[in-house]
Amino acid sequence: MNSNNESQRVKFGTKIGVIAATVGSAIGLGNIWRFPSEAQANGGAAFLFVYVLCVFILGIPVMLAELSLGRAGGSDSVGNFKNLTPKSRWWIAGTIGLLASYLILSFYMVVAGWTIEYLFDSLSGDLYDGYIAATQDQENAFFASKMANYVSSTWNPLLWTLVMIVLNLIVLLKGVQKGIEKMSNVLMPMMFVLMVIFCAVSLSLPNASEGVKFFLHPDFSKLDINVILNALGQAFFSLSLGMGILVTYAAYYPKTTKLGQTSVTVAMLDFFMAFLMGLVIFPAVMSFGLNNNETQLEGTTLVFVTLPEIFAHMGGERIWASLFFLLLAVAAITSTISITEVSVAFIRDRCRVSRTKACWIVMIPLLITSTLCSLSLGAVPGIKIAGLPLFDALDNFATNLLLPLSALAICIYVGWVLPRDFIHQQLSNFGTIPAKSAPLVAFLIRFLSPVLITVILVAKLIQML
Ligand code: PHE
Repeated sequence: MNSNNESQRVKFGTKIGVIAATVGSAIGLGNIWRFPSEAQANGGAAFLFVYVLCVFILGIPVMLAELSLGRAGGSDSVGNFKNLTPKSRWWIAGTIGLLASYLILSFYMVVAGWTIEYLFDSLSGDLYDGYIAATQDQENAFFASKMANYVSSTWNPLLWTLVMIVLNLIVLLKGVQKGIEKMSNVLMPMMFVLMVIFCAVSLSLPNASEGVKFFLHPDFSKLDINVILNALGQAFFSLSLGMGILVTYAAYYPKTTKLGQTSVTVAMLDFFMAFLMGLVIFPAVMSFGLNNNETQLEGTTLVFVTLPEIFAHMGGERIWASLFFLLLAVAAITSTISITEVSVAFIRDRCRVSRTKACWIVMIPLLITSTLCSLSLGAVPGIKIAGLPLFDALDNFATNLLLPLSALAICIYVGWVLPRDFIHQQLSNFGTIPAKSAPLVAFLIRFLSPVLITVILVAKLIQML
C-alpha cells in the first residue's frame, strides 16, 4: 500500500488547471482530423446528432467512473485498484489501460512529430516550395506525394519524433503543477483562439453556407447501425477513455474538485472543439470544390493534403498553414503529455523512483518503439504484424480492442465491485455537495455502459475478422 505516495501526491493547483489539463488530453488529433472525417463518412449532421447522444449516454458516465476511481485511488492506473481493493486481482484491469496507453503513445508520438515538421516547413516556406495547384481531378497530387514521401522516408520523421519526445520530456520533468498544469493553462486558450480564427475565416469564404448545410442539416435516412457504432467509437477516443489517462490525472485532482461538473465541462469543450473544426472544414472544402472525392477527408489526408491545398487557394498560405500546424501541434502535445504521464506515474509509484528517473525509464524504450512505428510506414516495409505495418497494427489493436476492454473492466469494477455508494460518495465529495444525478450515473455505469461497450467490442472484432 502506498499511503506514503498518496499523502505526498502533488495535486493540480487550481480549478482551471484541472479543467485545462483534462481538456488538453481530450482535445487532440481525434477532434481535428478524426471527427470531420467520421462526420463526412457518416452523413454529416446525422452523425453530429448521434455523436452528442453518445457523449451523454456513454462518454460522460464512463468518464465519471474513471475520474472517481482515480481520485479515490490516488495513485497510478494500476495502483488505484491496489489501493481500493488490496487483496483482489483487479489491478490486472489497470494493466490493460496502461498497455493501451503505451502502444498508442508509440505511434501517436510519430504523428505528433509530423505536425511539428509541417509547422516548421510552413514557417520556412518549404511546404509550398515548387507548389503546383491541383485541378479537381488531380486530387491534391502535389501535397499527396509530398506527404507520402515524407512519411515513408527514414530520417526526417525520426528527427521530428525525437523533437516531440524531448518536448514531452521537458514538460514532464517539471512535474504536475509546474509542467503539465502550466503548459495546459497557456496552450489551451491559445488553441481555442486559433480555432475561432479559422472558423471565422472559413465561414466567410464564398459558398461557405453549402458546407454549413451539409454539417448542420441532418439527413436521418443516412442513420444506420454503423453510424451509431462509429459515433460511439469516436466519443470514446475523443474523450480519452480507457487509456488510463483520466484515472491518472484524477489522482491529481484536489478532494474538492466537483467531478460531475468537471466531466460535463470537459466533454462540452471537447465537443465544441470538434464542432468548430466541422465549421472550419466543411465550408472550406465546399467553397473550393474539393469535395469531389469520397476519401478526401480521410484522417491524415485531410490535414496534410486537403488543408494545405485550401490555404493555397485562399492566398497567404504560409501564414495560414503555420497557424494551422501550430494548432495541430498544440493539440497533439497536450495529448501526448497526458498519455505519457500514465506510464510515468506507473513507474514512479510502482517502482518507487523519482519522477525524473521515471521519465527517463519511460522515454528511452519509447524511442525504440516509436522509431519502429515510423520506419514501418515505408522505410523498412518488413516491420509488420499480421500483415499490417507496425504503426497500423498497434493502432488497430489498441484502439479497437484494448480501449473498450479497459473501459469495460473499469465500469464493472466501479459499478459492481466497489461499494454501492461509491459513485455517490465521489460525486457528492463525501456528502459535502449535492449530487442529484448520482443514481442515474450509477445506473448508466452499471448497466448501459457495459452493454454499449460490449457491443462496440464485438462489432470491432467482427470487422477485424
Ligand atoms: N482524446 C485524444 C484525441 O482526441 C485521444 C488521445 C489522447 C490520443 C492522448 C493519444 C493520446 O486525440
